[in-house]
Amino acid sequence: MKKQHARIITGLALGAGLASLALLKRHRRIQAETAAWQAQRRPALDVLACPECHAALSAIPLDGGEGYHCAACQKDYPVVDGIPHFIQPGELSGMNKAFARMYDWFSWGYRAFSKIAFAYIGMPEEQARREVTDCLDPKGGRLLEVSVGPGVNLPYLVGRADVGEIFGLDISLGQLSRCREYVAHQGWDVHLDLGNAEQLPYQDNTFDGVFHIGGINFFNDKKKAIEEMIRVAKPGARILIADETEKGAQGYEKFIPGFKDSFGSNRDVIQPPIDLVPTAMLDARVFDIWKGWLYCIEFRKP
Ligand SMILES: C[S@@+](CC[C@H](N)C(=O)[O-])C[C@H]1O[C@@H](n2cnc3c(N)ncnc32)[C@H](O)[C@@H]1O
Ligand SMILES: [Zn+2]
Repeated sequence: MKKQHARIITGLALGAGLASLALLKRHRRIQAETAAWQAQRRPALDVLACPECHAALSAIPLDGGEGYHCAACQKDYPVVDGIPHFIQPGELSGMNKAFARMYDWFSWGYRAFSKIAFAYIGMPEEQARREVTDCLDPKGGRLLEVSVGPGVNLPYLVGRADVGEIFGLDISLGQLSRCREYVAHQGWDVHLDLGNAEQLPYQDNTFDGVFHIGGINFFNDKKKAIEEMIRVAKPGARILIADETEKGAQGYEKFIPGFKDSFGSNRDVIQPPIDLVPTAMLDARVFDIWKGWLYCIEFRKP
């Protein structure tokens, strides 16, 4: 009996030791890849702008590291581990604050959740994501994904012949840290920025394509976010905005415990916010994607 106990304890100790070693190895690999990704990053001063006043920024030393400075409103924005921070968590309010917190926490499981959701919808993830990304037409130019999350759309954009530089912005540092880990592992040159879709830290007329999937229904100010995506797009650029339809939201409410409660007991019925797209935009249309679980609004900036 004693011998059997000793064997179990030795087995458990060995298992725990091997698991710790594997975790340590993974941690070291992530550190090395992240350092390499940071080393090849360049300050994108031709693209970035102050999110408050849209003035161009200058690179400055800040808090022992690097940062950006807006001479017009005297604001500083630190770069932390390769990610410029254009918001501070304490500045957020309402749904933006709630969602930033939720995604900070949930970022560990987002990729797996996404795969399970596509299995539930009954669609391969690649096919679903390409339904949106294939509509982008950046003609070799710069692309912006607003709410990039952990980078789940990037595999369908990086290396595409008609896609140049890629920028990804998100309000959740948790999601962006996962994204940094992912792009560093892949060795991809993708710029990541911590910011709010309603106050984009980019210059006017900068991107040849702008897209967003999955957050706008519950932004504090959808109109402002749409205006911002238009402001930073170049004339002629195509803009795509997708999120759950009412069918999709009800589907998630059934399939994810607690999802319904996170929006309060009586949320509004979801309508694609096409009425918030200025009438001056060209070729505006709304269509269903992901078997009707999401809507997609598409238009071009004149
Ligand atoms: C459902 S996830 C979508 C992630 C990814 N785009 C995808 O296709 O799976 C929604 C994302 O929106 C981000 N988000 C929520 N509110 C935001 C805001 N005001 N500005 C920027 N991103 C926001 C969240 O942090 C989260 O990463
Ligand atoms: Zn400023």
